[in-house]
Amino acid sequence: MNLEELSVEERAALLSGGSEWDSRGNKRAGVPSFVMSDGPHGVRRQLGEGDHLGLGASKPATCFPTAGTVANSWDPDLAEEMGRALGREAHDLDVNVLLGPGMNIKRNPLCGRNFEYYSEDPQVAGRMASGLIKGIQSNGISACPKHFAVNSQELRRQASNSVIDERMMRELYLTAFEIAVREAAPHAIMTSYNQINGVYAHENKHLLQDILRDEWGFDGMVVSDWGGSNSAVAAAKAGGSLEMPSPGYTSVRELIAAVKAGELPESDLNARAAEVAKIAQLTRFEGVGRDDLLRDDIVAAHHDVARTVAENSLVLLKNDAVLPLRPGTRLAVIGDMACTPRFQGSGSSKVNATREENLLDELKACAGVTVAGYAQGYERQGAHNPALVNDAVALAGRVDVDAVIAVVGLDERSESEGLDRSTMAMPQAQNELIAALKTAGKPIIAVLVAGSPVELPWLDDGINAVLYVGLSGQAGASAAVRVLAGAVNPSGHLAETWPLRYSDCPSAGWYPETGRDVIYREGPFVGYRYYETAHVPVRFPFGYGLSYSDFTYSGLSVDGHSVDEHSVDEHSVDERGVSFVVTNDSDIPGATVAQLYVAGPAEPAGGVLRPARELKGFRKIRLGAHESKVVHIAFDRYTFRHYDAAAGAWRTQSGQWTLMVGTNVEDLPLAAPVTVPFIINDDEQTAPAAPVDTGSGNAGLHDAALADRALGHYLTGDVTHVTDAEVAALFGHDAIPSSAPSKFSANDPISSWKYSKGFAARTIARTLIRREAKIREKTGAPDLNVLFILNMPPRAMSKMTQGMVDSAMVDAVVRIANGHTLRGAGAFIAGFFRNRGANNRLAKELRS
Ligand code: BGC
Repeated sequence: MNLEELSVEERAALLSGGSEWDSRGNKRAGVPSFVMSDGPHGVRRQLGEGDHLGLGASKPATCFPTAGTVANSWDPDLAEEMGRALGREAHDLDVNVLLGPGMNIKRNPLCGRNFEYYSEDPQVAGRMASGLIKGIQSNGISACPKHFAVNSQELRRQASNSVIDERMMRELYLTAFEIAVREAAPHAIMTSYNQINGVYAHENKHLLQDILRDEWGFDGMVVSDWGGSNSAVAAAKAGGSLEMPSPGYTSVRELIAAVKAGELPESDLNARAAEVAKIAQLTRFEGVGRDDLLRDDIVAAHHDVARTVAENSLVLLKNDAVLPLRPGTRLAVIGDMACTPRFQGSGSSKVNATREENLLDELKACAGVTVAGYAQGYERQGAHNPALVNDAVALAGRVDVDAVIAVVGLDERSESEGLDRSTMAMPQAQNELIAALKTAGKPIIAVLVAGSPVELPWLDDGINAVLYVGLSGQAGASAAVRVLAGAVNPSGHLAETWPLRYSDCPSAGWYPETGRDVIYREGPFVGYRYYETAHVPVRFPFGYGLSYSDFTYSGLSVDGHSVDEHSVDEHSVDERGVSFVVTNDSDIPGATVAQLYVAGPAEPAGGVLRPARELKGFRKIRLGAHESKVVHIAFDRYTFRHYDAAAGAWRTQSGQWTLMVGTNVEDLPLAAPVTVPFIINDDEQTAPAAPVDTGSGNAGLHDAALADRALGHYLTGDVTHVTDAEVAALFGHDAIPSSAPSKFSANDPISSWKYSKGFAARTIARTLIRREAKIREKTGAPDLNVLFILNMPPRAMSKMTQGMVDSAMVDAVVRIANGHTLRGAGAFIAGFFRNRGANNRLAKELRS
């Protein structure tokens, strides 16, 4: 039966989830329901109804390294291999849609979910995500990249509005998604919780229709983040296909009413229903080998894949000739995380790993080195404990110890969905441990466990080597030991800049935003785009990573001509590119990451403001001892373009550009000028920018003097003094957003009720805040469900409760938030019975 022959009720019912993880099917139309499951680096197939934050038990599955770590491999083929394994597990565990990869741009190092995201750069994020998506989908499983889009902080995650101008949005925050959609054709995409310029992502027509579908050619399903939809009708009109998890029949009723009232064209309803039904067809499996636990051979094989991915992703940050460990080295192994490993982050991505390794056991099992002893060294939760430090120093000082392996890093509380980090510092207890260990006079090798950059005050002071393992998955420990012992030559490079200190970050002055409007004041100057332009020294530049081999780069040619003056032909940019030779000058095989950056023409008046360098391509190159290879990196639609917001088109600025090639953004030994003609990328005509609808006030709009001042701040590295008015002038925000609301609405998070004048609402918020802090302190891990509630606005109640709460009941809750406790409670109770009756009637109708 054709979908269009279904009743309006039946079609509307397809547009929301039937339970926490399942879509609704329709038997008459032969549309089965399908299962969605997290996540990005391992399948979390929950048992029973479960919650969506990983607290409920889930079937065992392989925990691969998280995206922040995999990105350091700079190897999309490896991501594809990992994706194939993930897709296979999804298949076997009865999952149809895998909710990943996470691919938001890392705007600030403190974002609690950065460990789940790839990079500060869209090329790296887009290409790595493409690999993973292709791998997942090669099994007939749908991938679902997330969170679309401009979603950079966890605080108020369901109740914030990202205010950003069209050019920066497209060039920085959307390009990664564009690459993934064009290269890997994901069947689905997940919208983010936030608004973009005043419109929720899941009902943002500009994003979902104009850009995603019309420009990029996406023809799949758009699913909301869990509880992230707002108006079911607005979503259906704008291109949001499926609301998850479970608004019950309340959304269905709203859709039916809108169709009947002529507010929602049936064509929109049909299009959305077809998008959902298509996923059911694409991922239809006829039972074979599904819904089981993973077979033992799969578990073993995928543990090895997880190890391979980790081996290629670990980054050697420092090495004063102490690594690889010499045969016979006797080691003191120090640090709680050597024994009790930490290899993934907290939140919905958390996997129930099939196996667990730890560094201490792996070192003990490693031929060629001996473990002389182990000491805990520090309390994981950061408490000061001199006895632990003294034990560690005594062990390090023993005559039978040649070198110290100190395993240090961030604990479970620091990196989590729902919670941004409060500092970039390492726990003080661990910094003190490192300082004390130096007194033992032995070489110290730090193994650093963290999903995001940390400040390393001790790096230049007596530490001999640092191996950054990130959050390296369930086989990360054996991978690390193989690198330490030299069985694997490290080849990871950082996919994000490590600043010297947090205050150097361009957005440090306004991150995370505590109010509703998150203004992207730093414009394009995120990560290395800022540090390079403003000449701010960093700890480790973007793209940085050491190896046990040395590599030389030589012989740059552009479009087949060796370096001199080049001109890129207007019509054949696609096939053109750079070639160069990379040589491994060492006696062992190794791998490096070759990176291509461009710099636009020297700034003529009225030219295009752009960062000093931008990554436009990269290649991971594996070379035998003393081997040389010619490497080609092609130009493509992304190489020279910028977005001209006024014209609504991608353009290429004519003039002399500079191409640079090397191993990190600050080490680019090859350079060549290239003359590029002016190109309007006609095949890429785009929709004009959507108006920014965030409030009042147009101060300084397009004011040249203000724009110059902002530019001056940026170029001198004084980014913290840029004002909102200057930003508006420079980047063309159409409005400067208003300040916080004076009254609570359905879209203000529960956490903001701590300021309510109503006793009940205030008490609820304060109690929850206290409870979360207490649990975090006590257990060493955040309480994700309480955090979720704190960040949640009342509107989400109607999206997560299987229809028990409708929008009228949400309005009643808002009354309570505004201090009208009794009237609100009365309306809530009356609404409960009315809603239940209406749901029952609709359920009966659908059944018949
Ligand atoms: C997260 C998503 C996740 C979903 C389902 C949300 O809270 O933001 O990334 O896929 O939950 O667990």
